[in-house]
Amino acid sequence: MRALYVLKRACIQQIAFTCTARWRWTQSRSFSNTIPEKHAPNNTMFKHLTSKIKATGPISVAEYMREVLTNPVLGYYVKNDMLGADGDFITSPEISQIFGELLGIWCVSEWMAAGKPKEFQFVEFGPGRGSLASDILRVFSQLQVVLGGATVSIHLVEVSPRLSELQARSLTGDRNQVFASENAPAYRQGTTSTGLPISWYRSLDDVPKGFSIYLAHEFFDALPIHKFQKTERGWREMMVDIDPEDAARLRFVLVPAPTLASSTLIQAGESRDHVEVCPEGAVVIQKLSTRIVEDGGAALMADYGHDGTGTDTFRGFRGHKPHDVLSAPGTADLTADVDFGYLRRTAGDQVACFGPIAQRTFLQNMGIDTRLQVLLRNCRDASTRAQLIRGFDMLTNPVKMGDRFKFFALLNHNRLAPPPPLEKGKLTPLHLGEKGKKMALAPLPVAGFSELKF
Ligand SMILES: C[S@@+](CC[C@H](N)C(=O)[O-])C[C@H]1O[C@@H](n2cnc3c(N)ncnc32)[C@H](O)[C@@H]1O
Repeated sequence: MRALYVLKRACIQQIAFTCTARWRWTQSRSFSNTIPEKHAPNNTMFKHLTSKIKATGPISVAEYMREVLTNPVLGYYVKNDMLGADGDFITSPEISQIFGELLGIWCVSEWMAAGKPKEFQFVEFGPGRGSLASDILRVFSQLQVVLGGATVSIHLVEVSPRLSELQARSLTGDRNQVFASENAPAYRQGTTSTGLPISWYRSLDDVPKGFSIYLAHEFFDALPIHKFQKTERGWREMMVDIDPEDAARLRFVLVPAPTLASSTLIQAGESRDHVEVCPEGAVVIQKLSTRIVEDGGAALMADYGHDGTGTDTFRGFRGHKPHDVLSAPGTADLTADVDFGYLRRTAGDQVACFGPIAQRTFLQNMGIDTRLQVLLRNCRDASTRAQLIRGFDMLTNPVKMGDRFKFFALLNHNRLAPPPPLEKGKLTPLHLGEKGKKMALAPLPVAGFSELKF
């Protein structure tokens, strides 16, 4: 436990005195008020979707979301750089460098708690512009002494060739190479500016097995959801159809009979009258749990979401404004709150689940207040100082991103077992007194989910 205190103190106070001060005021995706846009331009994605519907009938919301976001040719993520002030939304790693630094410390602390395995894979899902990975690489670099002789490698799961290009530029400069082969596990490989091997994959299945710390920030909310409505005749699935009164528009319809999805995805005794279920998210959780059990490691997920209480949360964003999800498909981001209760049920007993807890609680437990003070102390530029404070407020203020964003983790059960008995001749719990005895017998605390006091 002491190792964790020391790590936390060392990291928060010493990592990169230089502030990158990334912060621009823009609307995050956690805010949703109105849906102003009514018009549906006849874009290519719209034509693609209507041809599909004409051929096979209404499509599920999951299929609609999958096509709109990740269609290999026309998909929103595949074609666009949607993040930042000129894009459609902003995310925490883009708001403040502190966010990525604290998550980097989390990764190192979980690697330490697992007994410092020789091989350490850092795996990130949906890295966007690569800002989070970049801040984490800086932490790994500053903590080289702590990481000792471990062989660290970086693995990014990214479906978008456009975004992978941006990530490669930010993380490797031009030290990367693209592989055309569909069959190669990695479609891009290189060396980070800090000298670590880095690879890109289309799916988790392609990432090599081995001890890994997995990170997914605003990834699960982008995975396709099915939508269901409780009716007098039972649960019915909501689908997307062409509006019969205006062929240039799409509309939601309720399927009159049960579908395979409505018969299998609603849990018994469901008390809500509208439910969104993300089976692709469940598949990722199942695979992560199996990997964590077999190879060791931990997964940390951060997203806006709920613990099985949310209902109709499917929404769109374009140009930092709420956008009608069925209007001009492919030109706006689509997203839905993550149901962490469903993810926890999916993980079952295989792994230990932590959270969901509010982002502000997690970041405060990780020492965000101290880290901000250290950066402010070392920063003379007034506008950078103001940016750091605004970024801190945006991340932790309960009415901004502090409460709506949640952290959730999967850990190997062995990680929570008490440490092995102390070797003969070393300090025993008796020598450490009552407090020491308790500490020595307790499992190492999980950073972020409990407060580590200095
Ligand atoms: C909302 S963005 C979040 C970006 C970044 N994590 C951040 O917080 O700034 C979603 C990311 O997940 C990627 N993505 C979406 N669906 C994916 C999928 N099925 N497989 C892999 N990556 C996906 C997108 O291309 C994008 O990089």
